[in-house]
Amino acid sequence: MGVKMWIFYCADNSKCVFSIWNQWCLYYAAVACLLLSPVRTDDVCPSSCICARDSRTVSCRDGEDPEVPGDIPEWTSTLIVKGRNISTLQRGAFMINGTELEMTALWLSHNGIQVIEPYAFLGLPRLHLLDLSHNKLESISARAFHGLPELRSLYLNYSIMPEATAQLSNALSTQSLRNLHILELAGNSLESIPLMRLDIYNLHVLVLINNSIESIGLENVTNLYQQRRIRVYLSSNPFRCNCELEPFYYWLKNSSQCPDAGRLLCSEPEAKRDVPVEKLRGEDVDCTNENLEAVSYVFLGIVLALIGVVFLMVLYLNRGGIKRWLNNIREACRDQMEVYHYRYEQDSDPRLANVAV
Ligand SMILES: *[C@@H]1O[C@H](CO)[C@@H](O)[C@H](O)[C@H]1NC(C)=O
Ligand SMILES: *[C@@H]1O[C@H](CO)[C@@H](O)[C@H](O)[C@H]1NC(C)=O
Ligand SMILES: *[C@@H]1O[C@H](CO)[C@@H](O)[C@H](O)[C@H]1NC(C)=O
Ligand SMILES: *[C@@H]1O[C@H](CO)[C@@H](O)[C@H](O)[C@H]1NC(C)=O
Ligand SMILES: *[C@@H]1O[C@H](CO)[C@@H](O)[C@H](O)[C@H]1NC(C)=O
Ligand SMILES: *[C@@H]1O[C@H](CO)[C@@H](O)[C@H](O)[C@H]1NC(C)=O
Repeated sequence: MGVKMWIFYCADNSKCVFSIWNQWCLYYAAVACLLLSPVRTDDVCPSSCICARDSRTVSCRDGEDPEVPGDIPEWTSTLIVKGRNISTLQRGAFMINGTELEMTALWLSHNGIQVIEPYAFLGLPRLHLLDLSHNKLESISARAFHGLPELRSLYLNYSIMPEATAQLSNALSTQSLRNLHILELAGNSLESIPLMRLDIYNLHVLVLINNSIESIGLENVTNLYQQRRIRVYLSSNPFRCNCELEPFYYWLKNSSQCPDAGRLLCSEPEAKRDVPVEKLRGEDVDCTNENLEAVSYVFLGIVLALIGVVFLMVLYLNRGGIKRWLNNIREACRDQMEVYHYRYEQDSDPRLANVAV
């Protein structure tokens, strides 16, 4: 390209048309090339985008284009794409001709993204911030977030469709996210913490506001205690305030790892609806009472059932003897009755009455 342009430049320039090896001409050509190349890159701003070289920001909004802008300038540090209809983020969607970009922030909210394919963010080794909030993710590859060793903030709030909840925890459990500081997962109808482990990240902030978490079990609580730096935001979840909440209740009270602890409310049982979880008493979440009661009822039931079975068996085994015994009784009764009858007859004899008098 350089050589062609040099010849072209010189051919056009009357001063050096006859002295192509002239030093001046060479100098002009070099200057021209130097001047031309940055001008050309500046011109390459993707259609319907605004490129601000000073702030190294490229901003693309509300385009009809269903693709990620393909020809992003190499100097881009911040790329904002918003309001487009990007249904799929393909492998290496942000690579230009297989070269890595120095991009540090990628804002992709409100683009109707449904699918993230494996290695979608390949070629962005410096990326610090990735915003995928307010999309409609139905499918997230387990390798979606591979190749992001510097990623510190990942926003996935209001973005995960129910179909993708299970995939999310696989996608997030990659060593590639070891520097993750902030993970936002608000408003995703999650029923549990979608992280298999916490020790693979460097998490400081985990936002789980406005999900469908009813309880957080002992295993999760133990892991949270171990990650002392982590702060977990949990308001607007429908907590079920029964005795299964006990480990979580004490974590809330003891750990100060939940900055919005005061705003967590019970949604069940009915009697405790809208009661702050923190205001519950120890007895409310004490499983030993409830368990003891349940156990004693079960025990009583079993004992009664056993007695019943034994009784029936005795009856069954002795059915001959019982018959005999019943007959004996009947006989004895009859004898007795006869004796009574006889006595009665004797008692009612007027002669005998006279004798007695
Ligand atoms: C988005 O694009 C898909 C196909 O790529 C199309 O089916 C869908 O209707 C588009 N949605 C909107 C809101 O434009
Ligand atoms: C990208 O590669 C194509 C061919 O593979 C080439 O024509 C084009 O000039 C390259 N663009 C850049 C910016 O390197
Ligand atoms: C959702 O993510 C955005 C980033 O786009 C963040 O600024 C915002 O505070 C988050 N909203 C909630 C409710 O967490
Ligand atoms: C919670 O999320 C739902 C959608 O998941 C949304 O409609 C609602 O406005 C959110 N509530 C708050 C308090 O952000
Ligand atoms: C949290 O609990 C869920 C469900 O019990 C489990 O799958 C997950 O691995 C736990 N995560 C952590 C970090 O403890
Ligand atoms: C939390 O604190 C309560 C009293 O404040 C204590 O009885 C309980 O053992 C503590 N739990 C843990 C796990 O530290």
